[in-house]
Amino acid sequence: MEMDQLVALCKRRGFLFQSSEIYGGLQGFWDYGPLGVELKRNVREAWWRDMVLAHNEQIEPAGAPSTFEMTGLDCSIIMHPQVWKCSGHFDLFHDYMVDCRESNRRYRHDQVNGRWVECDGKRVFIATTLGGEEAVAQTAQRAMKLFNLRKKHADRLTWDGPVVSLTTVEDLSVVFGPDAKEVGSLTDPREFNLMFKTIVGALGGEEDAAFLRPETAQGIFVNFKNVCDSTRVKIPFGIAQIGKSFRNEITPRNFTFRSREFEQMEIEFFCQPETSPQWYKYWRDRRFQWYQDLGLAGERLQLRDHDEDELSHYSTGTADIEYAFPFLPEGEYGELEGIAHRGDFDLRSHMEGKLDPATNPLEVEVDDDGKPRHRGSGKDLTYFDDMTKERFVPHVIEPSAGADRATLAFLCEAYQEDEAPDDKGKMQKRVYMKFNPRLAPIKAAVFPLVKKDGMPEVAQEIYGQLKPHFNTFYDAKGAVGRRYRRQDEVGTPYCITVDGQTLDDGTVTIRDRDSLEQTRVAKDECAAVIREKLGL
Ligand code: GAP
Repeated sequence: MEMDQLVALCKRRGFLFQSSEIYGGLQGFWDYGPLGVELKRNVREAWWRDMVLAHNEQIEPAGAPSTFEMTGLDCSIIMHPQVWKCSGHFDLFHDYMVDCRESNRRYRHDQVNGRWVECDGKRVFIATTLGGEEAVAQTAQRAMKLFNLRKKHADRLTWDGPVVSLTTVEDLSVVFGPDAKEVGSLTDPREFNLMFKTIVGALGGEEDAAFLRPETAQGIFVNFKNVCDSTRVKIPFGIAQIGKSFRNEITPRNFTFRSREFEQMEIEFFCQPETSPQWYKYWRDRRFQWYQDLGLAGERLQLRDHDEDELSHYSTGTADIEYAFPFLPEGEYGELEGIAHRGDFDLRSHMEGKLDPATNPLEVEVDDDGKPRHRGSGKDLTYFDDMTKERFVPHVIEPSAGADRATLAFLCEAYQEDEAPDDKGKMQKRVYMKFNPRLAPIKAAVFPLVKKDGMPEVAQEIYGQLKPHFNTFYDAKGAVGRRYRRQDEVGTPYCITVDGQTLDDGTVTIRDRDSLEQTRVAKDECAAVIREKLGL
């Protein structure tokens, strides 16, 4: 599947629109349309149900070190600015960017690639924003242009090594920028904090500056004590949160993959330090399985454990769940979710003051006067275990997923093409979205075969029976084959048709989106049959 086909389908059928499109759009912001909102809600609800609501704290799940509890929070987007100082986002949450003085374009330093080439004694790094084979082709083309060569003189170019990141290049004066006409137009890399700044209150000056949260996780850490004091949860337990996060990404791109406003689904799981490595493995494997259960079952999904040397010393493990999105070069994967063992870094930072992640054991980062660089809350965020009479700072396992990225992966995976007979029995190309029924925006569609002979009345009655239970669509317009196609294209798993036989024996057909099989059931049993098929 080409990404353009999916993007076109998303717009045509109301899954996703560019934000503020009538004004030319705003880069990195997206609106979910009438079907997209249902799809994304289903993704969020599947996550909340599977992780929080359906969790049974009385039973030890397979692979878990013990039973555990789960609860939730919904925190504000704007929080006290000190939160971001202690979390490290104020000092450390930045990307490096390079500007092109010639084209006025801005790039993320680590997202520019290129190849070294030499021609007539001149060595240049030909830069591109593409990767893989596309980067090879584009750099070859641009080098020919730069050195004013015709095709037959391509052998005057001597290529030195494969495509590498711009971050490997020390002297940017020899770089031919991705959109430049001259060599040496890129500035040196500069830091750029990704947090969106805003002002709180009417009189606001710089002292009233606050930030839109770049992750939902910190709301959970700063409420740890509130949750412990207001509920009877006992460690081990998890706090889940779904909500918007904001990052002023330098180069938002690839549809919703890298947006400036997006939604996260995060769990902070608090446990005893001794059992935290087992809990890390439990959450890593469970979260990987979740995506597979919802349809990302093929080779495009992978679990990648970070190497030892990529880990902070206080962490015993981090893994990414990744998906081979079609917009990425062959063999590359994009992150859907990270599962991290965070030790006691966050709770201690909010208690004692921002810790220096480079210290071992962790110590509060100090300024030139030996005072904490960023003061903590001073509140006691330790946990007292009634049974063992021990007081300790819990360790944390963090499965952190993106709702928009998951939705995008489910959209990519669902896109299918095959052939199906039209109304005259002629085979026609069919595009259908093979969503897991739990995620499908519309669960069932009801059609009268024709708009006469009492069929619409029966179809409306069935529609009325289904609608209170799940999202159902009624359609009486056009040839029935075309109505099936329209539902296939948005991934509706079941279509119910009222036909001539319904009037004789009270049965209707239920058509399966994937197998195209039609079975007859009594019209009054329709709701029960579909509910069973959906597992409701
Ligand atoms: N609390 C940890 C944390 O926020 P992260 O890897 O920065 O970790 C977690 O983000 C998840 O949030 C990512 O795996 C991704 O699914 C989603 N995410 C992050 N930045 C995003 C962006 N700019 N657009 C869409 N989703 C994003």
